[in-house]
Amino acid sequence: MPDLKKEIERRRTFAIISHPDAGKTTLTEKLLLYGGAIQMAGSVKGKATARHAVSDWMELEKQRGISITSSVMQFEYEGYCINILDTPGHQDFSEDTYRTLMAADSAVMVIDAAKGIEPQTRKLFKICAMRHIPIFTFINKLDREARSPYELMEELENEFGIGTYPMNWPIGCGRDFKGVYDREKREILAFNEFHRGQNKIQAIECRLDEADKLDGLIGARLRQTLSDDIELLDGAGYEFDLEEVRRGKLSPVFFGSALNNFGIEPFLERFLKMTMPPLPRISNNDIIDPFDSRFSAFVFKIQANMNKAHRDRVAFMRICSGRFERDRDYFHVQGGKTLRLAQPQQLMAQERAIIDEAYAGDIIGVFDPGIFSIGDTICEKGMNACFEGIPTFAPEHFAAVERVDTMKRKQFEKGITQIAQEGAIQIFHEPHTGVEEVIVGVVGVLQFEVLEYRLKTEYGVDIRRRSMPYELVRWVDNEETDIPALNLTSDTKWVQDFKGNNLLLFTSQWCINWALQKNEGLSLREFNKD
Ligand code: G4P
Repeated sequence: MPDLKKEIERRRTFAIISHPDAGKTTLTEKLLLYGGAIQMAGSVKGKATARHAVSDWMELEKQRGISITSSVMQFEYEGYCINILDTPGHQDFSEDTYRTLMAADSAVMVIDAAKGIEPQTRKLFKICAMRHIPIFTFINKLDREARSPYELMEELENEFGIGTYPMNWPIGCGRDFKGVYDREKREILAFNEFHRGQNKIQAIECRLDEADKLDGLIGARLRQTLSDDIELLDGAGYEFDLEEVRRGKLSPVFFGSALNNFGIEPFLERFLKMTMPPLPRISNNDIIDPFDSRFSAFVFKIQANMNKAHRDRVAFMRICSGRFERDRDYFHVQGGKTLRLAQPQQLMAQERAIIDEAYAGDIIGVFDPGIFSIGDTICEKGMNACFEGIPTFAPEHFAAVERVDTMKRKQFEKGITQIAQEGAIQIFHEPHTGVEEVIVGVVGVLQFEVLEYRLKTEYGVDIRRRSMPYELVRWVDNEETDIPALNLTSDTKWVQDFKGNNLLLFTSQWCINWALQKNEGLSLREFNKD
């Protein structure tokens, strides 16, 4: 059996985040290419078809051309075992991204060099900052007109309040893009037209003091600019501090072009050295060491029907400690039961493979007969682990949903409950009214479309949806509160979630303030603690 410590030490688990179109998918594919996990022509056309095969799975995603759900891919590179967590770019699915980031040890943030920070980058960064995970920045599309690298770095520092350290420095951009200067090796990695669209490029290396050779490669004007830039950067005297990187306070910045596969391999190599193997995780206020030989994991994602032929549901879990073994029984803490995880699998690019073992840092998917919920802990019996829950985002859009065909009650309930368990939507009902409508809350309106589509295609149920005017939801803190006796504005609605917790739906902050002012002792929470 492989050595536990060695196996865990070589694990690197990270998420790639970006605003849609910055190049996340392209970068992911190039990384997989280096790992030999996929073979691809690398042309734009090839990429477009391959992309659906690699990370998208729902028809809806294909129709709308967006990546909705996140997937996980594992590959080997130079002795490292790498787990990439792909995240949905669309803002309506930021909750899914948040959960995925809970499973990652670091994040790679892809930024379009012409656009700089965009709204979704901002949101995702905040989530990373909340978890203090190290963030590595890849500034992409240097083969196109780009903003000044100084300006881009300044924007990152000012907006995010972190330090930046350029690991390499671009030489020109757009038609004039000539490559990057590697600040550690003090060498130039030259780019020329030959590279455009290539899968693997041969680096042309050249030092700053090789003036003639350099002039031939990048021209006298760019050589002068580069010398000035490097003098300025080196003179600025910022020390590279790996500890600061690991604390999430300093972001190493790389420039390149994912589409042209330029700057990817140096990025990958440097990145792997800077990121860490799996980190300890907090459980029951205790710390679980990843090298503890006992297996423990938490569920961060539940995904249904990834494969139409199987109609199955998969719970993705991040292993936090020890070794997972296929034929052993483990304890599902929330369910209070011992069980054998069925069909444990990992995604190797397009392929789903059944695995016999996996280690801390790895993400495994297991067959879920409907028993797991997001945030659940699975561990070796007697270990008494229970990882911190993953908070639920407060939904911002609400609709009353009912089935069109009254005969399909069972399918409707099953479908809507399962989709809610996956965390894609939240469901509520009005207590004591006998109304059969379900109130659905979502973080982004696109989730309503997904719900409608999935109920129809997977459960055969058509629904009617009526938008509701609520925008804010608060959980009532004290279980003893007599809700009907509260003094609330007439447009405030009392509902319960499927665990029986009381909530209030409000149309505005003003109504929340009213409720708090008029009802002494009322305490409201923005997040659900469960
Ligand atoms: P995303 O996952 O972050 O949403 O972005 P994605 O990789 O899909 O890239 C968005 C577009 O940007 C794609 O073009 C892609 O080919 C292009 N792109 C990515 N990296 C680079 C780069 O380094 N240079 C240039 N010039 N373009 C880049 P598209 O035409 O929108 O899509 P497709 O037809 O290629 O799929």
